[in-house]
Amino acid sequence: MKKIWIIHNSKYGNSEKIAKQFAEGLKESYDVSVDSIKNISPEDIVKDEPYGLIIAVRIVAFSSDKEVRTFINNLDKVITKPISKVAYFSTHALGWKKFFIKGMKKTLEKIGCVEEICPEFLEVKMQKPEGPAVEEADAKIEKFISTVKEFMK
Ligand SMILES: Cc1cc2nc3c(=O)[nH]c(=O)nc-3n(C[C@H](O)[C@H](O)[C@H](O)COP(=O)(O)O)c2cc1C
Repeated sequence: MKKIWIIHNSKYGNSEKIAKQFAEGLKESYDVSVDSIKNISPEDIVKDEPYGLIIAVRIVAFSSDKEVRTFINNLDKVITKPISKVAYFSTHALGWKKFFIKGMKKTLEKIGCVEEICPEFLEVKMQKPEGPAVEEADAKIEKFISTVKEFMK
């Protein structure tokens, strides 16, 4: 089975919860690991030579989480085999603005270790910073999981 890593840097558990939903959706077809970047190092990912990577990006101060971007840049420095497919999604609590995710997009486009970035993207709004997600989020998440499954093929 091909390996897919799903990483998050969840503080309140919102992006972790969605990361785990992705893991459930993919585990029949892939060997999936999901963890916080607080618990793992880029080397832990590199040693698995993953085929795919899914990144949960929480929005902090109108921007994509800098800690996740730093982790991705560090991963790029130590990686030995390119990652074929990368997808990302975001959780946030304010009205969505495209510039929230600009930093993450730039980071992924700049690094050399990614072969293909999923052209579609998911943002999930929380009712308040601690969650839960807005009511209509579940259908949106399920739809994006299907999109990512297709993209990973
Ligand atoms: C310090 C801080 C700053 C935040 N800034 C924003 C922001 O600028 N825009 C936004 O939409 N949400 C913002 N949020 C809300 C988070 O993006 C939201 O709670 C997210 O779901 C947290 O993910 P997590 O539960 O995985 O940690 C902020 C939250 C914190 C704690």
